[in-house]
Amino acid sequence: MLVELFQDAARGCRQRSPLNHALLTAAAEDLAAGGVTASVMAGSERDRRGTVPGLRFAGSLHRLVLEGKAPGLAKHYPSVGGATDLGNLWADVEPVLAEYADELRGLVRSTVVQTNEPGRTAPLYGGLLVAAGRAAQAAGRTEPYPVRLLEIGASGGLNLRPHRVGYRLSDGRVLGDKRSRLQLDPEWTGLPPTDLDAPLELVERAGCDLKPVDVSTLDGQRQLSSFVWPDQLDRWRRLQRAMRLAVDDPVKVERAAGPDWLRRHLAQPRPGVLTVVWHSVVWQYVSPAQRAQGRTVLAEAAAQATPESPLALLVYEPRERVGGLFRFDLLLRLWPAGISLHLGSGSGHGIPFTWDEQRWS
Ligand SMILES: C[S@@+](CC[C@H](N)C(=O)[O-])C[C@H]1O[C@@H](n2cnc3c(N)ncnc32)[C@H](O)[C@@H]1O
Repeated sequence: MLVELFQDAARGCRQRSPLNHALLTAAAEDLAAGGVTASVMAGSERDRRGTVPGLRFAGSLHRLVLEGKAPGLAKHYPSVGGATDLGNLWADVEPVLAEYADELRGLVRSTVVQTNEPGRTAPLYGGLLVAAGRAAQAAGRTEPYPVRLLEIGASGGLNLRPHRVGYRLSDGRVLGDKRSRLQLDPEWTGLPPTDLDAPLELVERAGCDLKPVDVSTLDGQRQLSSFVWPDQLDRWRRLQRAMRLAVDDPVKVERAAGPDWLRRHLAQPRPGVLTVVWHSVVWQYVSPAQRAQGRTVLAEAAAQATPESPLALLVYEPRERVGGLFRFDLLLRLWPAGISLHLGSGSGHGIPFTWDEQRWS
């Protein structure tokens, strides 16, 4: 079973991470033969598929490399300046597994796959511009609403500063903060259906997560970094910059379950402000009971929404499989305006993204 899960994880990396693909393929063979991988994975044999044991194994090994404990292996890891030699990778992995078996076993057992992808800030930014503009239009205002952003499942909170990021469009324009240390190439086809010159004013930001990551600590930074596939250098650099931005502009991510936290925050209306509830790549991890609770909390708040205190739900979640890969959709609902829009679709990391407004029912 564990062997199959490693093989699955290897297949998932094949297109985008030759290093992890080779690592997990060899580790699956070693596991089947009862080699040192079996010792590292002892105690995790019955883990659920959803906990992705293969990626926990690869992430834990990456963490050792980031901590400087495996110099003989680091030469294969582009994230620390190495160049992968696929033919010799496993020969350099095995001694590290043997030397650090106890530590790795502990890491694999205690860790959960935690990704906080700053690329998802790009569809969020466009979605917020549309939300603030359409809510204002519906209320007969000439200016977009300022926004209160409430994020569920915020992880390290890296998507809580969309107005502090620059977005370089293919026509040479830069939206957002042109001087930000985080400049994204959002690879947009089409554009957000709104006035892109309108400023995005965020008057309040808050997030919650069942397992928040504190990116102001080295431990938190290493945790998020270890789950970026080590040969995906664009993502790696994006993450490092986003973490530095988060340290410069801290926003607290509270340890709490989404529905309880949301109920508390929505109980305090903010007149003159559009409250936006946002989540990305969270819904699949939420239990059915919590989903039902979340829907109730939102429906109650939606029933109370007024033109003076409007409410929006903005989500970026996988919805449909297209050619073996999930398509992620950006969806918006606005109350009391009664507007429901499918704004567009993109990749799991938010980049590239295609804007394509349709009604969402
Ligand atoms: C794949 S990560 C996505 C993080 C972030 N939203 C992003 O797009 O980069 C999913 C996050 O959802 C959190 N999560 C899962 N269930 C939750 C719940 N019921 N309440 C709050 N957070 C939850 C997990 O702890 C994890 O940090």
